[in-house]
Amino acid sequence: MSDNPLKLKSIHHIEFWVGNAKQSSFYYRHAFGFSQTAYQGLETGSREQCGYVMDQGRARFLLTTPLTANHPAAEHIRRHGDGVHDIAFEVDSADAAFAEAVKRGARPAVEPHSVEDDRGNIRRASIHTYGETLHSFISRNGFKGEFLPGFQTAPIAGRETGVLRVDHIVGNVGLGEMNRWADWYSNVLGFKRFLSFDDKDISTEYSALMSIVMSDDSDSIKFPINEPAAGRKKSQIDEYLESYGGAGVQHIALQTRDIVDTVSALQRNGVEFLRVPDAYYQLLPERVGAIDESLKELEKLGVLVDRDQDGYLLQIFSKPVEDRPTLFFEVIERHGSRGFGKGNFRALFEAIEREQAVRGNL
Ligand code: FE2
Repeated sequence: MSDNPLKLKSIHHIEFWVGNAKQSSFYYRHAFGFSQTAYQGLETGSREQCGYVMDQGRARFLLTTPLTANHPAAEHIRRHGDGVHDIAFEVDSADAAFAEAVKRGARPAVEPHSVEDDRGNIRRASIHTYGETLHSFISRNGFKGEFLPGFQTAPIAGRETGVLRVDHIVGNVGLGEMNRWADWYSNVLGFKRFLSFDDKDISTEYSALMSIVMSDDSDSIKFPINEPAAGRKKSQIDEYLESYGGAGVQHIALQTRDIVDTVSALQRNGVEFLRVPDAYYQLLPERVGAIDESLKELEKLGVLVDRDQDGYLLQIFSKPVEDRPTLFFEVIERHGSRGFGKGNFRALFEAIEREQAVRGNL
């Protein structure tokens, strides 16, 4: 059995369904430093939806807004607020990937079909994953355009903040569903269990979660899956599930080469991050040993550090980027460590719970 049965090559893009893509694109450009590279909308003959393609490094977001009340995105936004609709993969053959996925137990969402314009055509198809989230398969067939047929080049440069790529994408699923979805990623996409955490690793006084990290055979696509665990009060996963109206993407981790530069820029641009108590930094030298970065600088920015057998990592978490406490971003810089910052879970979750309490959701 092949380790990559669907022949996934990479994440082609992450599509968000949002209420106002014009304003969202402004946020990702001015706050996160993405550049707008392509556009579809009324001006390009798209009567049903507007789409803005936002690029930085190898991270690519598509922000889509429905132009009509009957568009499926309109109902999605009503139920979930703004959120991730589709994590799309580039594959050798969308037809073959779709057929194989369905054979392996995936629920079909969109049958294979062509999309074309005067620059060529692509094939695409989609399957359902957790909640109302999709995985699309896209094969480009030598398509000449920069993104997909129907999009026109519309460059508006952002001021880059040093984002290199998407490191991992985390899904929250309901109580008792984590193992089912981990098995699904293993059976359907051929992913393997890369790491797992249970409530002994991830618990605070009030809330807990369990997590399994699924990864493809090259470890380049990582999808941790969280479920709530029993705690004394409502966990952050429960808050998400209530606010989003079910399972969905919880956070997207963006990898950077220099987290001090990146987070300094993001904070200057107004991106809000969680802060752990100052005591965290007093314990840090003993916990992580020598690192290249200045601890003073990390403390000033609120960047967290964790070390494991392979090396260390630096990470920081934004506050939710919508009014509903749902999707947020992580910024991560890796120095050997392939983990997810287990040593930071307690301090981090206590910080999240303080925010939940302010929202009246703890
Ligand atoms: Fe993460």
